[in-house]
Amino acid sequence: MKNASAPGTQAKPIAHQTALLFICSLLLIACGKSGSTGTNSISASNAIPIGIAFAQTSNVALLGQEGTDGVKIAEKYFNDKGGINGRPIKLVYQDTGGDEVGTINAFQTLINQNKVVGIVGPTLSQQAFSANPIAERNRVPVIGASNTAKGIPEIGDYVARVSASVAVVAPYSLKAALKQNPQLKKVAVFYAQNDAFNKSETEIFQKAVKDLKLDLVTVQKFQTTDTDFQAQASDAIDLKPDLVIISGLAVDGGNLVRQLRELGYKGIIIGGNGFNTSHIFSVCRALCDGVIVAQAYSPEYKSEINTAFRKAYVAQYRREPPQVSAQAFTAMQVYVEALQSLDKKSAINKLSLPQLRTELNQQLLKGTYQTPLGEIAFTPVGDVIQKEFYVAQLKMEPNGVNGKFAFLSIK
Ligand code: ALA
Repeated sequence: MKNASAPGTQAKPIAHQTALLFICSLLLIACGKSGSTGTNSISASNAIPIGIAFAQTSNVALLGQEGTDGVKIAEKYFNDKGGINGRPIKLVYQDTGGDEVGTINAFQTLINQNKVVGIVGPTLSQQAFSANPIAERNRVPVIGASNTAKGIPEIGDYVARVSASVAVVAPYSLKAALKQNPQLKKVAVFYAQNDAFNKSETEIFQKAVKDLKLDLVTVQKFQTTDTDFQAQASDAIDLKPDLVIISGLAVDGGNLVRQLRELGYKGIIIGGNGFNTSHIFSVCRALCDGVIVAQAYSPEYKSEINTAFRKAYVAQYRREPPQVSAQAFTAMQVYVEALQSLDKKSAINKLSLPQLRTELNQQLLKGTYQTPLGEIAFTPVGDVIQKEFYVAQLKMEPNGVNGKFAFLSIK
């Protein structure tokens, strides 16, 4: 918990800890000597390692890939600009898979073997609730780039996120749905009951529906690993809803949309934050058309850094950057700018690894950052403070293969 003393080092014998600190200090000083300060030369040998813990395999890999796409753009972008006052950053990847055990293993490897200064990830809030306490105990900063469940920053002093909470983002899509159909009254809600973020998100949606005095006609549950939704979809359709709200991930959520439409549902569909990926296009194809999804990022946001990020992203991947890629880039930007500020204050090559991790954590929480998401800062607990939010609607081409997120006016 925040403000609790971090107990992680208690288990280690003092002599072991001291030896470890000493070796780490030597390593960092040696690295620093090979040439950071005062030059703009970038050499990989003294690079500062930042850990990337995203899902590269499993049913979460589609979302994990978008995070990886974003941090890769950031690594090149910030190193081309001189890195940390002349010293490059280097990303170290560990695959978390889609579950908690894989994430815990990835965190342990990044912290103990790869000796990273901080971690970006993991992909799911469900994974963060299990793995972030390990970073907390080891006093290693973690920045969530896609974790949107309630309670993530509260995991510990070393946990922050740049991905705005569902509580902030989700209601925007409801507002957009009401704008499209002011008469809508009956709402059916579906959610993945085996996933922390989707459980958190559905609570927000259900509360918003009730606050708006809409009629919540049914709440249907499923698993993120499900592929057949005929029973739940038929039960809901029988109640004649004008709006369906789904909190799920891209593959299960996309299949649910497809099956709802195949069974004849014609009303509005809102997808939660798990729908916020172009990978959903290949799941529901032409039947994705019209789904409304709230966004914490717009590629059209006008700023120097977003223009640069968007240009680099489109050049690399031949499509517009999705929200999670922009958030992952932003998490890297926070580390880079906090390391730059720290280095100017106290020459990071003179700090031991534990000192560097702790000072980096303190520094990053203090900053204000001009990012592709707009200006952001952090609350004392480490939650992102962000001003701009958006809503998009999926527009599929008739071939059912190509599509885009078309941004709606929500004023
Ligand atoms: N936004 C999703 C989560 O927090 C990916 O789990």
